[in-house]
Amino acid sequence: MSKNEKISNSVIRRLPRYYRFLGELLNEGVSKISSRELAERMNVTASQIRQDLNCFGGFGQQGYGYNVSELREEIGTILGVNEKYPAILIGAGNLGRALAVHLDYAKYGCRLCGIFDMNEKLRGVTFGGVKVSAMSELDSFCSKNKPVIAILCIPKEAAPDICEKLTFLGVKAFWNFSHFDITQKNLPGVIVENVHLGDSLMSLCYGITNAGKDKEEQEDEGI
Ligand code: NAI
Repeated sequence: MSKNEKISNSVIRRLPRYYRFLGELLNEGVSKISSRELAERMNVTASQIRQDLNCFGGFGQQGYGYNVSELREEIGTILGVNEKYPAILIGAGNLGRALAVHLDYAKYGCRLCGIFDMNEKLRGVTFGGVKVSAMSELDSFCSKNKPVIAILCIPKEAAPDICEKLTFLGVKAFWNFSHFDITQKNLPGVIVENVHLGDSLMSLCYGITNAGKDKEEQEDEGI
């Protein structure tokens, strides 16, 4: 695939994981790695890795493997991790505070530059080095700082209006923890990651519920 061709969504979804593993390798002083070794480490197949990484061309060499640092840099550029996109967080409750305090935004391509909450008591309180501002300050803040990402940690009912307002103010992407489902229908043109931690937990429960079922089925079928 040439560098100008569009990379498929499923490959893009896997890129952060490659980026993370390549970072760990660099920290361990590993400068080159074969697709087989990387595959073992990441618990995927070597052909999957070759296929995915071929999308970016020129990094794997027969008999040499991948240059870890170059490949990580290339993937980082594709992901935009060096961009420091200005981000704001709306809703400084339990979840919002945790996200403000515990995430290293710079590592993931963002810069948390503002926190907003309707609760006046939170005004001026600092989380993760960023002061909470009143919602009334949102318009002027956005026209000055031009945030492109909004992290939504507000109740579902509050989200539709706030999304609309933020889009009007120039926000292009939502990291959405509110349980309001942002879609291309209700907010056309925006980039969105709807995050539901509960979905992940339910998948875990499914795993427990169904553990051993494959084996039982195989035994039933006499395999
Ligand atoms: P919380 O009640 O501690 O915090 C909510 C904050 O939003 C409060 O500080 C409140 O003043 C503020 N707020 C409410 N309406 C607002 C508005 N119109 N404008 C500005 N600020 C507003 O709640 P918590 O635990 O932090 O959760 C926040 C939301 O995230 C909840 O709706 C919850 O259901 C959801 N949630 C989602 C998860 C996920 O995986 N997607 C996980 C945990 C919570």
